Formats: sequence, C-alpha cells, structure tokens
Amino acid sequence: MLSLVVLISGGGSNLRALLEAAEDAEFPARVVAVGADRDAEGFEHAERYGIPTFSVALSNFTDRESWGDALLEQVQLWNPDLVVLSGFMKLLPPRVVAALAPNLINTHPAYLPEFPGAHAVAEAVEAGVSKTGASVIVVDNGIDSGPIISQERIAILPGDTEATLHDRIKPVERRLLITAILDIANGDIDLKELA
Ligand code: GRF
Repeated sequence: MLSLVVLISGGGSNLRALLEAAEDAEFPARVVAVGADRDAEGFEHAERYGIPTFSVALSNFTDRESWGDALLEQVQLWNPDLVVLSGFMKLLPPRVVAALAPNLINTHPAYLPEFPGAHAVAEAVEAGVSKTGASVIVVDNGIDSGPIISQERIAILPGDTEATLHDRIKPVERRLLITAILDIANGDIDLKELA
C-alpha cells in the first residue's frame, strides 16, 4: 500500500478525486496527510475523510529555504512513499526536491513542455492554438521541467475561456494522476528509472 502525502494550494479538486479513488479497497495507495502553503480551501476534502492536514506559509519564514525546510519536515513526519503536488503553487527549494525526488510527482494543466508555469491554461487560450493537454511529471528543480510520466492532448474549443478550458483539463489530470499512482504502486512505473 503506497502512502501518499498530497500538497495543494487551492480548491483541491484533484485531491478530492484521489481521495474518492482511495475509497476503493483495491486502490493500492492511501493519502496519509495533506499539506499546503496556506489554509487551503481543499483541506475540507481531507477533513471529510479524517485525514490530517498541515500548512506551512512562506510568509512565516524569513526566506524560501527555511520555509522549504519546515515544509519538508512536516512532509517527512508522515514518511510517505510518494509526495503528490496537485495544485501546489509554489516552487520547492532544491533541498526539498533533493530530499524527496524522484518520489515527488506533479500534475500540470498543459502538454509539457508546452506552457510551463502558473498560468498554463490562460497562456494556451491566449496563444490561439487548437490544443493543449494535461501532464503528470516527476518534479525536478526547474519549472514543470521534470521527466514526463504521462500526458494527454485536450482540444481548445472556439470561445474557450481559461475557466471553461481548465474545467475540461482537470478531469483528465485526475485520471492521469490516478493511473500514474496505480502504475507506480504496482511497479509498472519505476520513478528511479525515469528521473
Ligand atoms: C490543477 O489544474 C493543477 O494542475 C494546477 O492547478 C489546478 C489545481 O486545481 N497546478 P485543484 O486545486 O486541484 O482544483
């Protein structure tokens, strides 16, 4: 049984999907804790399942490295097999990536390496391209630049806004994330080989 710590920043709809998947006794992973860089709205999903939450706010620290060390300490309390970033909107300092990778994966609402960064969906709409996608990657020290675990194309429809497009991307992200966790849990994906 793979133990997961999930890090979020926002609504946590991808986290919710993971928690729902984990309700199936056959699903080989369990979320043991949920963390965030703020008092994230998505904590409500963890609380509904009785899962512990923690928040480590950058504003409480004098610099990014000490924030990262405090976040890492909270994550490592749970001794997770895998850390999942899902809507976590901060770059992790190198010490954190070094301590957790390659057992550190992220979902991104674009077909990487297209549109990395925090505004991927808006940029895809603004670019006027006909398709974008969703990706699951291993986190490295770059911005959404790590090895790709899986990804899928998603059409951009005429009249799409960032919100309507993101609403279509998120279900694909969730499916890719759940499949990736299944594959990691049953050994079909070896993160050490990928990284
Ligand atoms: C997801 O699309 C994630 O990939 C991106 O932000 C969104 C977070 O959505 N970084 P939610 O918080 O899981 O609803």
